Amino acid sequence: MNEEFKVTPWEVSGKVDYARLIEVFGTEPIDDKLLERWKRITGSVPMALQRKIFFSHRDLNWILDLYEKGEKFVLYTGRGPSGNTHLGHLMPWMFTKYLQDTFDVPLYFQMTDDEKYLSRDELSIKDTLGFSYENALDVVALGFDPKKTFIFSDLEYNKTLYRIAIEVAKRLTFSTAKAVFGFDNSTNVGMIFITSMQSAPAFLPSVERGKNVPVLIPHAIDQDPHFRVTRDIAPKLGYYKPASVHCTFLPSLAGSDKMSASKPETTIYTTDDPKTARKKVLSAFTGGRVSVEEQRKLGGVPSVCAIFQYYYYLFEEDREKLNAREQKCVRGEIMCGECKQELAGRVVSFLERHQEKREKAKEIIDEFIVSDYSAAYDKLKRPQDKKEVAKLKKSMKEYCSVKEGDRIQIKKTKELE
Ligand code: TYM
Repeated sequence: MNEEFKVTPWEVSGKVDYARLIEVFGTEPIDDKLLERWKRITGSVPMALQRKIFFSHRDLNWILDLYEKGEKFVLYTGRGPSGNTHLGHLMPWMFTKYLQDTFDVPLYFQMTDDEKYLSRDELSIKDTLGFSYENALDVVALGFDPKKTFIFSDLEYNKTLYRIAIEVAKRLTFSTAKAVFGFDNSTNVGMIFITSMQSAPAFLPSVERGKNVPVLIPHAIDQDPHFRVTRDIAPKLGYYKPASVHCTFLPSLAGSDKMSASKPETTIYTTDDPKTARKKVLSAFTGGRVSVEEQRKLGGVPSVCAIFQYYYYLFEEDREKLNAREQKCVRGEIMCGECKQELAGRVVSFLERHQEKREKAKEIIDEFIVSDYSAAYDKLKRPQDKKEVAKLKKSMKEYCSVKEGDRIQIKKTKELE
């Protein structure tokens, strides 16, 4: 990749040239022909595709071919729980929800809490497990179908995932991992295994059903290096290569770079209170001029304006209204303060509604979680041997932050069919 920008699963910096990224990563652009096909099959084209927010894919036509022949796919996406969810994370998840509704298909959702423990010095296992739970509330709040959605944490579903992960790991050399991810001798050995864990859910539906199941993975383009490796290895294991569809990055409120949890002042979290969120929006970088007079005379520059990007990505569905706003800005007929205030109002009302749903999610989250520890929970509910139960409780408390009395629904992904 050239020096002007960098996109890896752990770092995005500089001004990303998405057309160039398609070339470098070897993905395919989402073109008008594909959009026409999409419309023919589903009846409409959602905003995220129309605006090319989802701009690139691998084998999406193959997924549609199979779908048209009556073979349904499984959706798979995920989160590396290193902190609270921000609006950027919601973008691929909202698109995934649209896909679940449109194609009526199951979703496997992975929380790579092991990855975040391994990659972040400051985080403990309990921290990342805790964020798995907190982030899962955001996923549930988006309204996924509990009967068709399976959320799991690597740390708690490892028995199931590990068997598949080692199949992948056996075929993935250190030299490939180094070439793809830039690992060196100072990288901890856990990180080298992470792509194998992230590959496992792409094959899990096939393992569970005992036949090849097509899988579609929506995500932002930063995760593509993992799935390039997954796709290379899939045929060696006799599985289908997973297809994928990629979005661009929601920028930070500072302008061109990616919204990122490492810069809290320019990032809107789903848990931000209205006052904080409003303040962040009002302090955002805009394409405005130095004075009102100049702005009236010269007009603003929406293409560099973070506020305009937020309307474009999430907060103005109506294309005509979006165009009208852009034109008014360019002609100097609208000032930045007005644009910011209106966006702040929209962001706050979105957050208020989301936070209400997030609270309600706490009551139903069990319906979504799958875990290898179900059997252990079951044992705790029907204690046979007091000593054994005490031992189990202690180890569970230590290793998986499970509190006594917590309940995890005994639900397995494989019960679906
Ligand atoms: P993570 O937690 O970095 O990101 C979760 C999802 O959000 C996307 N994303 C963004 N999308 C738009 N704008 C942004 N500013 C932005 N920042 C992040 C990411 O691409 C991702 O789709 N290792 C993964 C977790 C994972 C996963 C998966 C992701 C496990 N299995 C399958 C996608 C698909 C991670 O750390 O994601």
